[in-house]
Amino acid sequence: MNVLDQLKGRFGNAMPEGAATAADRAAFEKAVRPAGDPKFGDYQANGCMALAKSTGKKPRDLAAEIASAVDLAPIAGPPEVAGPGFLNVRLNDAFIAGALGDLLADGRHGLVPPRQARTVVVDFSSPNVAKPMHVGHLRSTVIGDSLARILAAAGHTVVRDNHLGDWGSQFGMILWGWKNARDEANYTEDPVGELARLYRLVNDRIDAGDAALKEATRQETAKLHAGDPENRALWNQFMPHCLGALQAIYDRMGVKFDVQLGESFYDNQLAAVVEDLEKKGLAVESEGAIVVFVEGVEAPFIVRKSDGAFTYATTDLATIQYRAATWKPDQVLYVVDARQGDHFKLLFEIARRWGYDAINLEHVAFGTILGNDRRPFKTRKGDVVGLESLLDEATAEALKVVQENSPDLDPEEQRRVAVIVGMGAIKYADLCQNRISDYVFDWSKMMAMNGNTGTYLQYAYARTQSIFRKGGTTAEAIRAVRPAILVDHPVERAIGLKLLRLPEAIDLAVAELKPNIITDYLFDLAQAFSTFFEECPVLRAESPERRDSRLALCALTGFTLKFGAGLLGIDMVDRM
Ligand code: ARG
Repeated sequence: MNVLDQLKGRFGNAMPEGAATAADRAAFEKAVRPAGDPKFGDYQANGCMALAKSTGKKPRDLAAEIASAVDLAPIAGPPEVAGPGFLNVRLNDAFIAGALGDLLADGRHGLVPPRQARTVVVDFSSPNVAKPMHVGHLRSTVIGDSLARILAAAGHTVVRDNHLGDWGSQFGMILWGWKNARDEANYTEDPVGELARLYRLVNDRIDAGDAALKEATRQETAKLHAGDPENRALWNQFMPHCLGALQAIYDRMGVKFDVQLGESFYDNQLAAVVEDLEKKGLAVESEGAIVVFVEGVEAPFIVRKSDGAFTYATTDLATIQYRAATWKPDQVLYVVDARQGDHFKLLFEIARRWGYDAINLEHVAFGTILGNDRRPFKTRKGDVVGLESLLDEATAEALKVVQENSPDLDPEEQRRVAVIVGMGAIKYADLCQNRISDYVFDWSKMMAMNGNTGTYLQYAYARTQSIFRKGGTTAEAIRAVRPAILVDHPVERAIGLKLLRLPEAIDLAVAELKPNIITDYLFDLAQAFSTFFEECPVLRAESPERRDSRLALCALTGFTLKFGAGLLGIDMVDRM
């Protein structure tokens, strides 16, 4: 159950007769929120001041009127009028205790099906293949994976699509490199490494100003697209290696896709897309190219270049057409770097005109990962940081933490835990940011045992499990017994209330498409647990009933932390 949602509905039903419009009601409901300070209760309805303006009543009078009209039973008693017209709500302890009992019995963490289940395509990770994945690919992969998990948990149908860049100009560079500078032995030994070397070699020369080379690689790409047998054969030879290397990273990260339809998949649909755009009068010829003009935007959207080549944009239009026909999605999320914002603005506008106005197309933008110098994160030598080596380093850093924290764990188990802690730290450090912001990559901060880190969550979870071990029980055994939960101690009440609020966090994360709403919630819960752990003896509680109740709170905390971390793609460990 979503308590906040319930309260909103109750308040909405208590609007003064005849005086409030539908918009007033919506605004009033929106102003019902968790109390910022416990001295104002658990939730607050702060909409009376705004409503007073539109109804011509005094805020305090209105607050008193609503306080007596609203029926919050059995969730809470009548709200208290405070200040200029705030309504403070304190949940009934009996309600909290009962709801926690239900939560313990419910394997679904209190989640209920959404009012309107949507089909959502999540376009994420989508790296350009044939170059090794680097730190820049981390955010799309981690944020997209988490959003897909959150949406699925909320009851939506999710299609995870890895829109691989497998048809772009990098292949022209690799093809040219292959034909002119390949190292056969190296390719046999390490195909992806050799392709990456060729890419870098050619790219560096082009960057240094070799215009002839640039033109030669452009021609290789064009030949590939035109169906040149040699280039197609080479592409077919390279691709399995590239995909294998990507898959190894996805496996390590626990990231899965439903489909991986790369740019190449759409190649045979592009000509028809351009034709259709022209037929509908959306695209026109301009300086030999076919473009779509959008008022107020200077650069037009090029769908066919003057040399006949189709573009990234054409492919994205074909992709919308295909997704619409295949999955009939209500929403498509593009989890892509904020720097592509202009592209998506134009793409969405043109898609709307083209007839896809019923689909909510959304650019889920994110900022850049920075190094300690606040510049884009690079290795000491100034190269981009490879994703593989970054993950290796995470494990190594985590191993230090685990060895220090749990010297008695056997070395093999230490290594197993380190893999999970390292991955958790990297993912969490990314997800806990407001995704629009840039953030600084810092090993020591992201593995801090106390603070807003994945490691802290994992540690809180391990603490719950250690209580069960010492008490000779398990969370599942406690769930089966369903002891009565007591919330008369303020610390018990506080954690109990937090435990009820996961559905609120999930609903908000879905609405705002922000995984950091989940990390904030889990951090809050872990902190409440830490206070509980210090102040409320569990195994040595004053009575068997209290002990069982506290064990139940630990079990619920464990379940919620584990499930919540799962929404971030983060695993838990029993000891660390
Ligand atoms: N391959 C692109 C890149 O690396 C990202 C693709 C994002 N998805 C899309 N449908 N455009 O920049």
